[in-house]
Amino acid sequence: MIILGIETSCDETAAALVEDGTKILSNVVASSVELHKKTGGIIPEIAAREQLKCIVPVIQQAVQSAKCKVQNLDAIAVTNGPGLIGSLLVGVETAKALAYAWNKPIIPINHLQAHLYANWLAPQNQSPITNHQSPEFPAIGLVVSGGHTDLVLMKGHNNLKWLGGTRDDAAGECFDKTARALGLKYPGGPEIALAAEQRTKNIEHRLKNKLPRPMINDDNFDFSFSGLKTAVINLVKKQPSFAKASKGRGEINVAQMAHEIQEAITDVLVTKTIRAAQKHQVKSILLAGGVAANSRLREKLSNHLIIKSSNYQIFIPPPALCTDNAAYITACAYFNQKFVSWEKIKVEPGLRIC
Ligand code: KG4
Ligand code: ZN
Repeated sequence: MIILGIETSCDETAAALVEDGTKILSNVVASSVELHKKTGGIIPEIAAREQLKCIVPVIQQAVQSAKCKVQNLDAIAVTNGPGLIGSLLVGVETAKALAYAWNKPIIPINHLQAHLYANWLAPQNQSPITNHQSPEFPAIGLVVSGGHTDLVLMKGHNNLKWLGGTRDDAAGECFDKTARALGLKYPGGPEIALAAEQRTKNIEHRLKNKLPRPMINDDNFDFSFSGLKTAVINLVKKQPSFAKASKGRGEINVAQMAHEIQEAITDVLVTKTIRAAQKHQVKSILLAGGVAANSRLREKLSNHLIIKSSNYQIFIPPPALCTDNAAYITACAYFNQKFVSWEKIKVEPGLRIC
C-alpha cells in the first residue's frame, strides 16, 4: 500500500510517499526556519504564507522522486492537528483538493501521535526491508517537540493511554527560550547542543547542578520546565556580561550554561521515561519529536540500557526523522487506517495526543 503524506502543522512544508508504513519512497521537506531566525521565533502569519508558496512544489517533488504514478497511490494522509491554524489549513485544504481530483480517500493524522511512527520507518539505505525491526507493544512513548511534552503508554496501534505531560512549557520550548536568553539563535535546541559541546571542561564544576531538575522525584509522569527557564533568565540577569561568553574569574559562560540546561532537561526526561517503562513493564521505549534529535538525550537513554540490563528495547529515530517531516505522518496513516471522505476532514489546532 502506498500513501502520500502531507505535513504543514508549523514551519515545515513536507510531503512523503511511504510503502506499507515502513519503506520511504520519498521524503521532501521545505522549511521557513531561516525567516523565523530573524524574529527569534515563529510568526504564524509568515509560516502560513510560506506554506502556501511551497506546498505544490513539495508534493510534486515527492511524487516525482518516488517514481510513483498518481493512480498507484492508495490514500492521502494529512496532519489535521495540533498546530498553527493557518499552516494546518494549507495542508488540509490541499489534501482535500487532491483527494477530490484524484478520487482518493483521506486519512486525518494527529501530528503528535505520528511523531512516534518515525520508529517504524526503516533506514533508507537498508535492504531487504524485512530486516528492520519494529517496536513491540506495550511501549512507552516520549514525544518531545517544540510545543508538547507527553508520555504515553502504547498498548497497540490506535490504543494510546496518556500518562503525563508538561504542566507549562514544553521541553523544546525550554530549549528555545533559554537559548534566546543566552543570545543564541532560533531554534534553540540545536544551538544549545552546539554551545554545550564547546564548554571548557576544567571549569564545568562551577555551574554543576545549579539549575533545578523540576518534578524529577515526583510520583507522577508530569513535567514542568518554566521554573528551569526562569532560573536561567535570573542567572543571566545577575551577570550582564553573560551573553558575551565572559570567562572572568567566578563567572559562568554561555557554553557552561548551555551544558547545564541540556543536562537538566535530559535528566528529567530520561528519569521519568525509564520510570514509566519500569512501572508498566513494557517491551519498548520510543523516543520521538524534534528534541529527540538531541545527542545528549539519545546518549543518556541508550546508556541506561547498557548500564542496567532491562527487558525492553529502546528505539530512537535518526535525527532527520525526529524533526518535522511527512514520512512519519504517512507511516502513522498506514498503521491507523481511518479513512474519511474529503468533505469530512476538519482542522483541529488544539488536538491532544490522545
Ligand atoms: O517536532 P519539531 O520539529 O516541531 C514541533 O512539532 O514542534 O520540534 C521542534 C523543537 C524545537 O523546540 C527545537 O529547538 C527542538 O525541537 N530541537 C532540538 C534539537 N533539534 C530540534 N532540541 C534539542 N536538541 C536538538 N538537537
Ligand atoms: Zn513536530
